[in-house]
Amino acid sequence: MNVSFQWANAALITMLIGLPTAAPAQEIDSDTGLIKAPGWQATKANCTVCHSARLVTQNSGSRAHWKSLIRWMQDTQGLWQFQPEMEATILDYLASNYGPKEDARRPPLPRVNMPDNPYPTISSSD
Ligand code: HEC
Repeated sequence: MNVSFQWANAALITMLIGLPTAAPAQEIDSDTGLIKAPGWQATKANCTVCHSARLVTQNSGSRAHWKSLIRWMQDTQGLWQFQPEMEATILDYLASNYGPKEDARRPPLPRVNMPDNPYPTISSSD
C-alpha cells in the first residue's frame, strides 16, 4: 500500500468516526487511562495508590478545585504531603488536562421557574 493511499485511508476513517482531523492524537496510558502529558507519571505514582485513576480522569476542575481536593484528601483520607515542586507538577498536570469543562452543565433554573418547596425552610425569603 503506498503512503498517500494510507493517508487517504486514515483521513477517511477519521472523518467516518467524526473526529476533527487537526486534533493531535492524545496518548493515553493503557494502565490508568491518564492522558500522557507533562506530569502524568508523577500523577500516576501519587494518585493511583489508594483508588483507581478513574476518580481522577472522570473529575475536572480548575487548579484551585484540584488543590482543594488534595487538601481534603490530606486532611481526611491519609494523603501524604508533597514537596512544593511535586505538588505544582501534579496540579499543573491536572488543571491543564482535566480542567474545567465548559457547558458541562446547564445553568441552574431561576427560583421563579422552580416548583414550590414543600418543606419549611429557615429563611422565609427562599
Ligand atoms: C492516601 C490515599 C489517597 C491518595 C494517595 C489519593 N487519594 Fe484521592 N481519594 C482518597 C479517598 C479515600 C477518596 C474517597 C473515595 C471515595 O469516595 O470512594 C478519594 C477521592 C478522590 C476523588 C473524588 C473526590 C470526589 O469529589 O468525589 C478525586 C478526584 C481524587 N481522590 C483525586 C486524587 C488525586 C488527584 C490524587 C493525587 C494527588 C489522589 N486522589 C491521591 C484517597 C487518596
